Amino acid sequence: MRVVILPNAEAVARFGADLVVEQLHTRPDSVLGLATGSTPVALYKRLVQACRTGRVSFSRARTFNLDEYLGLERCHPQSYHQYMRHHLFAHIDIPPEHTALPAGDTEDAFAACEDYERRIRASGGIDLQLLGIGRNGHIGFNEPTSSLGSRTRIKTLTQATIDDNARFYKDDECQPHMAITMGIGTILEARRILLLATGPAKAKAVSRMIEGPLGAFCPASALQLHPDTIVAIDQAAASNLVHGDFYQHVEKEHQQLLGRTGRHSAPLSLPTTKQ
Ligand code: GLP
Repeated sequence: MRVVILPNAEAVARFGADLVVEQLHTRPDSVLGLATGSTPVALYKRLVQACRTGRVSFSRARTFNLDEYLGLERCHPQSYHQYMRHHLFAHIDIPPEHTALPAGDTEDAFAACEDYERRIRASGGIDLQLLGIGRNGHIGFNEPTSSLGSRTRIKTLTQATIDDNARFYKDDECQPHMAITMGIGTILEARRILLLATGPAKAKAVSRMIEGPLGAFCPASALQLHPDTIVAIDQAAASNLVHGDFYQHVEKEHQQLLGRTGRHSAPLSLPTTKQ
């Protein structure tokens, strides 16, 4: 796990967006795994800007989102279909048929889960998976005690997650209690994973993910098994780490080594001074 500690949330968004841009420069027909929530909003804003200025094109890319609420029509304002349209898809040059989210409004949700797995496989698999993290350590909607080998399936949300997401719903609006989510096994098959976390509310989950024991009680800890995961966090989200200084030291050494060998790791905009 490469842990990159950045000064603030804006730097995290810049780091993430640069990584996505570099992925698309290297392979314009990349398959991207996308996430929702408040955390990636600033990253999506930067990608929209990069596309508008011609720095990147999504015309050959394909996307698969992590999750969608069960029972919400895709046109519902709180659906992740609408979130993606609003924050990204409507503003970039990706063909709509290249974008996919689990079908939370289908009659046969079990078949929809199997179909989603089939479509991911048929695309050749996810090249770069973007993730956020829940305060209870969930990734996608894989709540604590999710099987570390799980595939796309229906999950019942914990009260903690329902409460955390209640801010997006009006008082009289019905909030879903279930979702379709890629499984942890599905996520771990991505070739590269980029997890973003910002703010003090994520500090505990971040330290459990990076330093805690590997276990289903903190689903994000399963990323310890993945050979190419980058965790980009701000100082506040890093504040509970026991070995924060060490990760900063490792990152500096890593950048110097890459500089000496003439190789580049994305993005090149890492701070070079000690935080
Ligand atoms: C939801 C999403 C997750 C996301 C999490 C954290 O539960 N299903 O994919 O990581 O929220 O969201 P936020 O970035 O708003 O804290």
